[in-house]
Amino acid sequence: MTCRILALETSCDETSAAVVEDGRRILSNVVSSQMDTHKRFGGVVPEVASRKHVETITRIMEASLEEAGVQLKDLSAVAVTQGPGLVGSLLVGVVAAKALALSHGLPFIGVHHIAGHIYANRLSGELHFPLIALVVSGGHTEIIHMEADGSFRRLGQTRDDAVGEAYDKVARALSLPYPGGPHVDRLALEADGEIPMPRAWLEPDSYDFSFSGLKSAVLNALNQAAMRKETLDPAHVAKGFQQSVIDVLTVKALRAVKETGAEQLVVAGGVAANRGLRTSLEEACSREGIRLAIPPLALCTDNAAMIAAAAYLKWERKSFTALDMKADPMLSL
Ligand code: KG4
Ligand code: ZN
Repeated sequence: MTCRILALETSCDETSAAVVEDGRRILSNVVSSQMDTHKRFGGVVPEVASRKHVETITRIMEASLEEAGVQLKDLSAVAVTQGPGLVGSLLVGVVAAKALALSHGLPFIGVHHIAGHIYANRLSGELHFPLIALVVSGGHTEIIHMEADGSFRRLGQTRDDAVGEAYDKVARALSLPYPGGPHVDRLALEADGEIPMPRAWLEPDSYDFSFSGLKSAVLNALNQAAMRKETLDPAHVAKGFQQSVIDVLTVKALRAVKETGAEQLVVAGGVAANRGLRTSLEEACSREGIRLAIPPLALCTDNAAMIAAAAYLKWERKSFTALDMKADPMLSL
């Protein structure tokens, strides 16, 4: 029997709906970004995000069904991001998905946002267990060991800023638009020089990360230059920052693969779109003979197809979610 899941994702500032067939084939993946709205505030304003989701969710859901050529009666389940994320934003998706499931008698499936990011890799390839997932997004920086589908053991995480958050703060200091990650990435790739920045390795056996010291080093370099009435080349700053991030992420992820004897390194989250990071991981994995999976760019940042991909595993096991489920901004994996 063909399984068609309609998924909704509204955890932050993207309103997205997707229809995915048998957990792999994307029939539609509509993403409406609120970026232009939040840009003028230099970051996501939760109150505004939530209201925007309310305004767009129905239209996005309809567009996704229409693009997929699927009617509500053809669906096998409705899935939604339960958390983590902004509570007001999560609520909009959860309420919409519940209403749809209830009114059409469809199974309802709640999905963890990070599981979605990881399973985005199933939409473009195979997962080989046991694996190490390097999760790098605006809210998370984690190394996760997965023995099998649905089993997540966290080996390390950031002790302060998430890597995407550090990108966005550095971008702001360089007067680049929000979200800053792609702009810092572009500048770093164009740079003809680099201002060296520190690397936070932490304890030798630790899989944790820390990016706040690096962020402060960037801000200090910019402030000190301003006091000397000099301006630093933003591309050189971007390159120094990006190189520090990439080195630490690459070394720790590869060490986790080797130490756990994993079959594959899987990369997930918005920062997986970073071209410098992709190249560094590709080179390191090919040198070490490690199998690597990174989603195509459009599936790295928040989208509902990844939520449908993760929901499919639960659908196969008939592991459905009760309709009294609550959006959980702190949901653990
Ligand atoms: O996964 P995501 O879409 O949302 C969260 O779940 O947080 O990630 C968004 C983050 C933002 O911080 C954004 O600046 C960053 O991913 N990002 C990038 C790139 N594209 C998006 N960071 C570095 N380089 C990129 N090319
Ligand atoms: Zn995300």
